[in-house]
Amino acid sequence: ESLLIAIDGPSGSGKSTTSRLLAAKLGLGYLDTGAMYRAATAGVLAEDVDDDGVADYVRGADLRIVTSSDGNTLTINGRDVTAEIREPRISAAVSRVATNLEVREILTSRMRRIIDEHGRRIVVEGRDITTVVAPDADVRVLLIADPDARVARREAELAGKADREAVQDQVLRRDRDDSTVSNFTDAAEGVTVIDSTFLTPDEVVARIEGLFPR
Ligand code: CDP
Repeated sequence: ESLLIAIDGPSGSGKSTTSRLLAAKLGLGYLDTGAMYRAATAGVLAEDVDDDGVADYVRGADLRIVTSSDGNTLTINGRDVTAEIREPRISAAVSRVATNLEVREILTSRMRRIIDEHGRRIVVEGRDITTVVAPDADVRVLLIADPDARVARREAELAGKADREAVQDQVLRRDRDDSTVSNFTDAAEGVTVIDSTFLTPDEVVARIEGLFPR
């Protein structure tokens, strides 16, 4: 039986933590679509592709993703970029690749293929999963949190490798750079908004489980 769970939200809203917990708890697959945009960006930077060439590059690239509930492993053209895609230089460049509409079409169809390969038993997180990639998902959630909480979480993830002001700039700038993809102000029809500012990951998981069809 299908249990396709779509979770969208901005940086630091808790999407990845929540999605992994849910997938592990329920024995579902887990797809981090942001990691796909990040891997494409790592390839674009490594191969010095200019803006005009980005869509052709992504179309021709051998992008592979191994989905596992504790995190996705990605290679592009045979190079493992799993660690590299978390570097700040990738975060800073990813919106340039992700706002390219042709790139979005190419990656969206790959995401749908991965969902089908999992028999639609998978948690998929991103920015446009509830609206574009899988508007027909069984459960659709928009996870939000106050900017201060999101900055503090991202800072904790980077474990002292970046100061608060730099993290704040990055998070808020990417909110702006991604605003054509999703502005997170209004949820689409049928999407449940969960504000995680004052919730633990387990509490968010419990709320999402409360939305399951029965
Ligand atoms: O680090 P953070 O949680 O903010 O982002 P992510 O989920 O790793 O996504 C990285 C970037 O990929 C976002 O800032 C978007 O530019 C892009 N993205 C997108 O456009 N659509 C998606 N479904 C997922 C990510």
